[in-house]
Amino acid sequence: MTFAGSHILSIGQFEREEIERIFQVADQMKPYAQRQRITHVLDGAILGSMFFEPSTRTRVSFGCAFNLLGGHVRETTDIASSAIAKGESLYDTARVLSGYSDVIAMRHPQSGSVSEFASASRVPVINGGDGANEHPSQALLDLYTIKNELISRGHEGIDGFRIALIGDLKFGRTVHSLCKLLTLFNNVTVHLVAPEELKMPEDIVDQMRRAKLTVIESDSLEQGIGKVDITYSTRIQEERFSSQEEADLYRGRYRLNQAIYTRYCEPNTVIMHPLPRDSREGANELDNDLNDNPNLAIFRQADSGVLVRMALFVLILDVVDQVDEYSRKVRWYTKSRF
Ligand code: CP
Repeated sequence: MTFAGSHILSIGQFEREEIERIFQVADQMKPYAQRQRITHVLDGAILGSMFFEPSTRTRVSFGCAFNLLGGHVRETTDIASSAIAKGESLYDTARVLSGYSDVIAMRHPQSGSVSEFASASRVPVINGGDGANEHPSQALLDLYTIKNELISRGHEGIDGFRIALIGDLKFGRTVHSLCKLLTLFNNVTVHLVAPEELKMPEDIVDQMRRAKLTVIESDSLEQGIGKVDITYSTRIQEERFSSQEEADLYRGRYRLNQAIYTRYCEPNTVIMHPLPRDSREGANELDNDLNDNPNLAIFRQADSGVLVRMALFVLILDVVDQVDEYSRKVRWYTKSRF
């Protein structure tokens, strides 16, 4: 694909070399994300940030990434505060808002809605999560984190690694996109740990098997996490269930805590989660008692979101070669940050 001017709607639109290019540009963004330098390469550009579902990381990190490149952010949060609540179509909303923005990041509760919006948009649109369907920028930052964690533990790279995906694999859009992304890599083993009712959709399992990934399905946490390099827990996506009572049947089914980690995981197994983790009593799929475990990568993972989203912006807006030209050192105190 050509990055310049493209929508980012599904992880399926990428080839492996494009993923490697995004990761290379993400590495280039470190001095800016880590506040050693600032750049004004997107001075004057406007990001339309439209999040019609709750979000902390995706919404704020897309905004920060754009600000760190010198651009401005216009936010619309909540359907109730947009004219969609008055019956305006996604088509009309896209035609109008794409006249006000240079690029749009969007989250919406319905599968396929961001693509529908993009087809009417006059500027590139990035899918920040559409229902239970996909979350492509999350998969990119997840794999970027996986690569860095593996390399820091002596692996050569992504090929040949083993991961356990745990929890709500039916409704979890981050794991849908991540599984599709893994099909671009060789000799990967994926343990899928979920209750029967929340298994990974069959078409995604088939896609992984066709790509010659080793896929092992089970409903046992202890079995799934025993021989992997990475555990990736997910929250029960209660907003996608028909009732809270139904969601409650599964909350707390799989709880990874320090005792279980010590007993069943290999030493230095990386612990990941797209976040938010559900820390309420009765859930705790990733216990707070893991917070001091150096293998807990969830906050490094969230930090990576800024780097990867900066990379997407400079590639899509075709300024990757000008980032350094429009930069200077920061003036304020930044040492304690990273
Ligand atoms: N990982 C993720 O999508 O988090 P938010 O819902 O906070 O954006």
